[in-house]
Amino acid sequence: MCGIVGYAGSRDCSDVLVDALSKLEYRGYDSAGIAVFENGEIKVSKAQGKLEMLRKKMEAEGKPHGCVGIGHTRWATHGEPSDVNSHPHSGADVTIVHNGIIENYRELKDFLDSKGVEFVSETDTEVVAQLLNYYYDGSPLDTIIKTIRELEGSFALGIIFAAFPDRIYAVRHESPLIVGVGDGENYIASDVPAILKYTRDYYLLDHDEIAVLTKDEVRIYDEHKELVSKELMTADWDESAAEKGGYEHFMIKEIHEQPNAINMTVKPRIRDGLPNLEECGITHENIKDFKNIFVVACGTAMHAGLVGKYVIEKLARVPVTVDIASEFRYRSPIVGEGDLVIIISQSGETADSLAALRLAKSLGAKTLAIVNAKGSSIAREADMLIYTHAGPEIAVASTKAYIVQLSVMYLFAFELALAKGRITEEKCRKLTASLLGVPDIIEKILKSSLEKSQYISTKLISADSLLYIGRGLDYALSMEGSLKLKEISYIHSESYAAGELKHGTISLITDEMPVIAVVTQSDLLEKTVSNIVEVKSRGAMVIIISREDFTIDEKAYDFRIDIPAMDDMLMPMLAAVPMQLVAYYTSVLRGNDVDKPRNLAKSVTVE
Ligand code: G6P
Repeated sequence: MCGIVGYAGSRDCSDVLVDALSKLEYRGYDSAGIAVFENGEIKVSKAQGKLEMLRKKMEAEGKPHGCVGIGHTRWATHGEPSDVNSHPHSGADVTIVHNGIIENYRELKDFLDSKGVEFVSETDTEVVAQLLNYYYDGSPLDTIIKTIRELEGSFALGIIFAAFPDRIYAVRHESPLIVGVGDGENYIASDVPAILKYTRDYYLLDHDEIAVLTKDEVRIYDEHKELVSKELMTADWDESAAEKGGYEHFMIKEIHEQPNAINMTVKPRIRDGLPNLEECGITHENIKDFKNIFVVACGTAMHAGLVGKYVIEKLARVPVTVDIASEFRYRSPIVGEGDLVIIISQSGETADSLAALRLAKSLGAKTLAIVNAKGSSIAREADMLIYTHAGPEIAVASTKAYIVQLSVMYLFAFELALAKGRITEEKCRKLTASLLGVPDIIEKILKSSLEKSQYISTKLISADSLLYIGRGLDYALSMEGSLKLKEISYIHSESYAAGELKHGTISLITDEMPVIAVVTQSDLLEKTVSNIVEVKSRGAMVIIISREDFTIDEKAYDFRIDIPAMDDMLMPMLAAVPMQLVAYYTSVLRGNDVDKPRNLAKSVTVE
């Protein structure tokens, strides 16, 4: 978590740094700060709270002026959010910004304490600044190499040395970092959207590589001080991809981008009506023998895996276990040769998911990554890789990344079922045709369910707690609906398998506990309706999200959002949309910061 940026060029860079940070606020927003060389001296400005607080502070007190600097937006780990714990942190000769966690910071701090070094903050980052300062011998590169050998944990660092006012240094170990290459100006950033306004060309720094940037030059060294030559990448998004484009929030913009994101992800992978995943390293030959599949991920990505489980098991008849990455890695999973471990991750940098991938590989399993961020660690380390093409997702609550993760799970399930001989090509062509039809139907749902979702949100805003229920695929989807609602509205919400309610949870039902039921599966219709009646008759206000062709007694619910009918299996992709809208409008009506919900960050690079 945390976002870092840096600039070396000819512009007055405070504004550039703050603008770049504004594209990284999804990574954390407890505090922000910048350090800029002004007339050869390092000037620091930092403030607790969102970036806006730093802007205001600089307006009131004046901003540093200069053409070389670094900046940071923080998600607090060591030390509460406060001015003093905000980055940048400094020693006498060096000032840094940091993304990641230094696991051995205690020992390092004890060592520095014993040398008489004084600390002002509670952060692990200040320990790195002071260690760099301690080892500083006039050569920044040697100092950085010596220092990073002592560090355990994860870090991406932006570093400036007082004696070198024309340059910034950067190094990464686990945490992501890119170097943006412009014309007479160069950048560092934790993620591509930060630099899109200025350049689309960038280098991906690898593990323990050190970059030195002046306005005219970028040099990249390995940990042995050897120069490395790297491939210059070009982002295939433009600046508008990371702007709100007239929408009030990124989240609602991203909800509306879903049809296009699915098209971009699915269309190129279907040829002659059949899935074609060869460019991802997937052929019938190399997947047909898998005996067990594990899907490992965190948060929303894990929920995409739950839908995938139902679909893969149903079509390909291969057992699928879905695991939360932070649980998988510590439960001695019975995984090995002959198994496939699928890691799903929007960012491709989630610490637990990356560790789970490495564990799976070490146990002899084959790995498949489903990732949105190009060149991210998970993308680079997996045996097979399917990119989702959602473009940059800025809102912390995931929407379009989820929908494309689902679309890839379907494609993979179709391919596996074909490879295993469980479905015919004819059946598969029908399924892919349905999948290709999803974006147009979502366009319709976005129009038809918008107002209804807004209205239903007005009924939810004063609830303290609510339940999402469903069966089968609807249950898997409910989990995501519930997470979406709680993470941005701050209303407590749980999802429950509808048939399991009566084993305890139904005792919570009163007229103060709204229930949202997802009803899209034909074979489970009657059973789910019975469960809905059970909560309705105990006083709950019931909202159903259901297929428009389902006949459901009007007495069983209070409000109904209809969605068009299609193949049962694909219904989660449709039903997800009104759930996202309800969560969004509930958050808006409650006056929350929709795109940046409290305590959260989008990219979770700590355990
Ligand atoms: C955070 C985000 C979620 C996301 C999860 C996993 O919690 O807020 O939206 O689902 O991390 O992230 P990943 O990048 O691995 O998909």
